[in-house]
Amino acid sequence: MILNLNSQSPEQTKSIGNKIGSLLKGNELILLSGDLGMGKTLITKGIAEGIGISENEIVSPTFTLQNRYSSDKKTYLCHFDMYRIGDSMTDQSGLISPEIDEELGENIIIVEWAQYLHESYFRVPDVIKIEITIPNDNLNERSIVIDTIFKPILTNL
Ligand SMILES: Nc1ncnc2c1ncn2[C@@H]1O[C@H](COP(=O)(O)OP(=O)(O)O)[C@@H](O)[C@H]1O
Ligand SMILES: [Mg+2]
Repeated sequence: MILNLNSQSPEQTKSIGNKIGSLLKGNELILLSGDLGMGKTLITKGIAEGIGISENEIVSPTFTLQNRYSSDKKTYLCHFDMYRIGDSMTDQSGLISPEIDEELGENIIIVEWAQYLHESYFRVPDVIKIEITIPNDNLNERSIVIDTIFKPILTNL
């Protein structure tokens, strides 16, 4: 199911993230797609806050590929960034896949640049796909399209 949200400011994007984070229980995979500067890291900070991790702890994993944070909910937040991988992985099962597989279980996984991820990930049960774009040439506005069948999000967001 598709939810179409609109954000008019960075703060609003973060608070949408916060709400999403508060609805997670563990063992969810969040796939963030969108170009540079769309707000993938910002919404991740909101999600982190919503699961009890200070947003100041969150740094973009562009160069490290993966960061891991522990949360109040006793799950880890694993934050991946596929930017450096590029689309070199899209037509094979992928080097990065086992690392993400390993983290699925109790943990919450967020992947930035998920458009570069192998499509097999889009079939994990509790997957929440979020695509962020600029809808009308207004640099402070974002269209946030959420595609998921994860009930808590569908009924509470
Ligand atoms: N409505 C909005 N939602 C999210 N970010 C916004 C919005 N308006 C402006 N911005 C700006 O866009 C940038 C998003 O940066 P970032 O989260 O690092 O993007 P990404 O991780 O997608 O590259 C920030 O500088 C933020 O202030
Ligand atoms: Mg980013």
